[in-house]
Amino acid sequence: MLTFFKAAYENLAQTGSLVESSSRLAARMTRIVNFNRPVHIVELGAGTGSITRHLLGQMKTGSRLTAFEINRQLFYKLSSLQQPQLVPVNDDVCRLQQYVCNASVDYVISGLPLANLALQTKEHILGAVRSVLKPGGFYIQFQYSLNDRPLLRRMFPLVQLGFEPINIPPAFIYYARK
Ligand SMILES: C[S@@+](CC[C@H](N)C(=O)[O-])C[C@H]1O[C@@H](n2cnc3c(N)ncnc32)[C@H](O)[C@@H]1O
Repeated sequence: MLTFFKAAYENLAQTGSLVESSSRLAARMTRIVNFNRPVHIVELGAGTGSITRHLLGQMKTGSRLTAFEINRQLFYKLSSLQQPQLVPVNDDVCRLQQYVCNASVDYVISGLPLANLALQTKEHILGAVRSVLKPGGFYIQFQYSLNDRPLLRRMFPLVQLGFEPINIPPAFIYYARK
């Protein structure tokens, strides 16, 4: 918690929040994930791993979780999870396609602060997300407002909305299907 707060104090635009997501938000984001089979999940903006831990706890043998985190201190904490299924990546998600093959991912789960990114950057990231997802795969993103709902609707054929009040601050969740 202190590590994340310190990162937020130094660069709030990059972290997008002062504290990590609640376990309730992690649970609501991942409720559509089918954990009964091996899956390849990519996490964008994993922070210290509040959603990562939730995913790892349910993933079957043969599954893989590739988790991107740009901040070095947060990445260090994330890497300490040391689970065989976890592949932590200390890089900008703008380079997603350098690490992940097209049409190879079942779910992309994201805590990226979309509202703080330039439109061009968002379009680039969402385009890359669409490319790496398998047909029928899901992009699941939380946001504290509905700012980017029109953008997601433009880039994905189907977008459903969820809401989790038990989080600081309460958050909307987009479930976008490729
Ligand atoms: C709102 S926090 C979410 C952290 C964690 N997933 C959670 O839910 O508690 C956003 C995270 O995205 C990371 N981030 C922001 N821009 C990024 C980028 N371009 N590439 C990779 N990570 C990024 C931040 O460092 C921060 O850890």
